Amino acid sequence: MTRIKNICCIGAGYVGGPTMAVIAQKCPEINVTVVDINEERIAAWNDEDVENIPIYEPGLSAVVKEARDRNLFFSTDVDAAIDKADMIFISVNTPTKTYGIGKGMAADLKYIELCARQIARVSKTDKIVVEKSTLPVRTAEALKNILDNTGNGVNYQILSNPEFLAEGTAVGDLMEPDRVLIGGDLDTEEGQEAVNALVDIYAHWIPRERLLTTNVWSSELSKLTANAFLAQRVSSINAMSELCEKTGADVNEVSKAVGMDSRIGPKFLKSSVGFGGSCFQKDILNLVYISKSFGLNDVADYWEQVILMNDHQKRRFAAKIVQTLFNTVSGKKIALLGWAFKKDTNDTRESAAIYVADYLLNEQAEIVVYDPKVKTEQIYADLDYLNTRSSEENRSRVKVVNTSYEAAKDAHAVAILTEWDEFKELDWKKIYDEMLKPAFLFDGRRLLERKTKEDIGFEFYAIGS
Ligand code: NAD
Ligand code: UGA
Repeated sequence: MTRIKNICCIGAGYVGGPTMAVIAQKCPEINVTVVDINEERIAAWNDEDVENIPIYEPGLSAVVKEARDRNLFFSTDVDAAIDKADMIFISVNTPTKTYGIGKGMAADLKYIELCARQIARVSKTDKIVVEKSTLPVRTAEALKNILDNTGNGVNYQILSNPEFLAEGTAVGDLMEPDRVLIGGDLDTEEGQEAVNALVDIYAHWIPRERLLTTNVWSSELSKLTANAFLAQRVSSINAMSELCEKTGADVNEVSKAVGMDSRIGPKFLKSSVGFGGSCFQKDILNLVYISKSFGLNDVADYWEQVILMNDHQKRRFAAKIVQTLFNTVSGKKIALLGWAFKKDTNDTRESAAIYVADYLLNEQAEIVVYDPKVKTEQIYADLDYLNTRSSEENRSRVKVVNTSYEAAKDAHAVAILTEWDEFKELDWKKIYDEMLKPAFLFDGRRLLERKTKEDIGFEFYAIGS
């Protein structure tokens, strides 16, 4: 039986960092080295003060503290870690392509391919290569091709082990996952042995019945399917939120009533200003692209609608602000509370806040942002990335401040865009006093659920009510 002694993980991001920290903590006899080409990121993972690790995730610093320098290492020496490893996880980014064939839809696999070529160049002993990144179905085939044809004649087994953690709850999700999916070549002895080697690692802390093994293609496609289903639920309830606003129904009451049906279930039915995050949109676009490339246009159109609904929801929320403020926000100050795509993370990728801000800036508003975890430079970088206006203009028309109260001062409107717990505890009457009248509040997260006009001091709009 193959016993793994050394693991290398390429990519020290939101997935590589937390997953490897938990594996290292749970398997003290295995050395885990996480490598990245981003020197700054690796330096932050190695920061003496464990609170400065580059990813904010509740509970993560304690796990890193326990395992770091015992059997968990962060390094920029990618070659050395590959050379030493029996098992290599590939956990690099797979963003939507921004050029060429499949632009705006297909996954950009250049980082994956670079990893494969590097593994092939460096490896002198047999390796199990694990796809941790989310990949189009049949990517393992391309990986195998590169490894077998450019390698040094060593044997490779390719496994697919997609990650299902959600940001903000990553540590809990890794400690107690609903399931761990491992795809491998179950028809051959070597394939089965590789699968067992990975099963043995997870079995250190996860009950065997939750370790699901499938063929590689099912595993790759299941990951895209899971994200598509989750995002579809959010778009479905968001579609209902607009109908609720027209009919006097309340979307939270509707989701409760619907979710109590055990066949439907209560999770992922919270209406919002739109889903964000680095993966839902990217993975659905990828699914749409794959479907189209097989000529399955009806399948592609079906899934594309999930994205179109999400774009509509973000636009609709921003338009509601403009409409309520007497159809013009030109020169008006609007405070945005929250910039991260959800609470308990500093990740802003595809956050609804970026698009709401952009819409309001196009309407000539002045924006003030407060987020408890997102750095100022990240906010400007997100706006610059849209390429809608110059970097100088973004800096002059968007201010970033350190408290919600500061953000609301002299604002015409406040919009809640991330469901940070601290926003629930705000002294809303004080906020109202600081604002220009008539003042408006837009709750894009239904955060102030049980609050009334009397509690808050002013009328407010809550999405779906
Ligand atoms: P990320 O951008 O945070 O991290 C990826 C890291 O890989 C970066 O630090 C980058 O510098 C590094 N990298 C890229 N090419 C490299 C190379 N050739 N050698 C060494 N390092 C390299 O991305 P992420 O959020 O961790 O996502 C990684 C993958 O996991 C993606 O495919 C994503 O779809 C998937 N995923 C993400 C999440 C999530 O919550 N973020 C959850 C499940 C799955
Ligand atoms: C999601 C999946 O939940 C993970 O299983 C998956 O591993 C991950 O994508 C990935 O592949 O990257 P994540 O994007 O981190 O995780 O966070 P979610 O909790 O899924 O939230 C995504 C977005 O949907 C957020 O903007 C959130 O606010 C929004 N959302 C979620 C709603 O608007 N309503 C809901 O009911 C649930």
